[in-house]
Amino acid sequence: MDGQERGRVGLSNFGSWPHYAGIALGLPNYWYPATWSKRVGRRPLRIELLGEAIMLRREAGKVYALGDICPHRGVPLSMGRQEFPGTWSCVYHGWTFDLETGIVRAALTDGPQSAVCGRVRVRTYPIAERAGIVFLWMGKGPPVPVEDDMPDEFLRPDSVIVGRLTIRQGNWRYAAENSVDEGHAAFLHRYHSLWTKFTRMAGWIVSLQGGDRRGDWVVRTADEIGGVGEFPGLGRWPKFRFWNRAPGRVTVSYRLPGNIRVAYGRYNHYNWYMPLDRERHHYFQFLVAQGNWLQRQVFRLRYWLYRRWLFHVRLNNQDSRMVRLMPETEPAPLYRPDASIAAWRRLCEEARGETV
Ligand code: FES
Ligand SMILES: [Fe+2]
Repeated sequence: MDGQERGRVGLSNFGSWPHYAGIALGLPNYWYPATWSKRVGRRPLRIELLGEAIMLRREAGKVYALGDICPHRGVPLSMGRQEFPGTWSCVYHGWTFDLETGIVRAALTDGPQSAVCGRVRVRTYPIAERAGIVFLWMGKGPPVPVEDDMPDEFLRPDSVIVGRLTIRQGNWRYAAENSVDEGHAAFLHRYHSLWTKFTRMAGWIVSLQGGDRRGDWVVRTADEIGGVGEFPGLGRWPKFRFWNRAPGRVTVSYRLPGNIRVAYGRYNHYNWYMPLDRERHHYFQFLVAQGNWLQRQVFRLRYWLYRRWLFHVRLNNQDSRMVRLMPETEPAPLYRPDASIAAWRRLCEEARGETV
């Protein structure tokens, strides 16, 4: 690519994103991974997602999700107890909710004929369990099939899925942006990271439009990979490291509601960025690969031995630090690699509406 062509990728290519500021609390009409299936048992688990508090609980093998605020006086329902199968009673006055519908079946401290029975309800959320993960539908309309919102390879019988679920500071949109941000990896992750010390890193990457649309996904491959550059008046960069001269090539893809895939060849790295509230987000990281039984066990072992600590903890902590420090402002002035961020923001403008 010559300099003239690259020069045409100017700010006019970036477009605008009129609704981006309005989705600080997320996109409701999607399935979200809430937690590992094995973490949900008979004891309620409280989570926060898209600004809502939700109680998860398993009964007779099925997971139920209720809004975690009692409609009576607002006490968390997750502090309650079970008096009758298929229901859940609030700890305070014993209002008893149907786990499936959220409707009040009894207000125990008002006697069997209480007037609130059948007339008050707490919100319930559709749940699906796939690949050892609990998925929650956050829309108010009927859900789309959960398979629409999860990567195909999660469902393959020969897949191994390992990962890490954490809560981090910063708005989810900026965390997702960091993940698709073309410019940061070659600098931020070059230093103070054991994970990249022995991997092949590009000096810079040029993706002309920030990514191509392929179905739901925006896929970004490099149109040009820079190795070592001669910077006028300054010298060569990246500085020479004998094991680090051949640039690596990875493909970054992403789709709504904040699901990013980085393909490394032998395995894929997936992230989900999901708001708890305006200032914090869930950060779910997965590594997924395929193989026979033995290969899957080896993959697990390698994850727990070093990939988790060097990649998912140490390397991705560098990203988290940046997101935490980033103020809620429009990025300006932009530079060419920010086309990747503009492509992500344009995608957000196409978010799914109510599915009624
Ligand atoms: S606050 Fe829940 S029953 Fe009164
Ligand atoms: Fe990063």
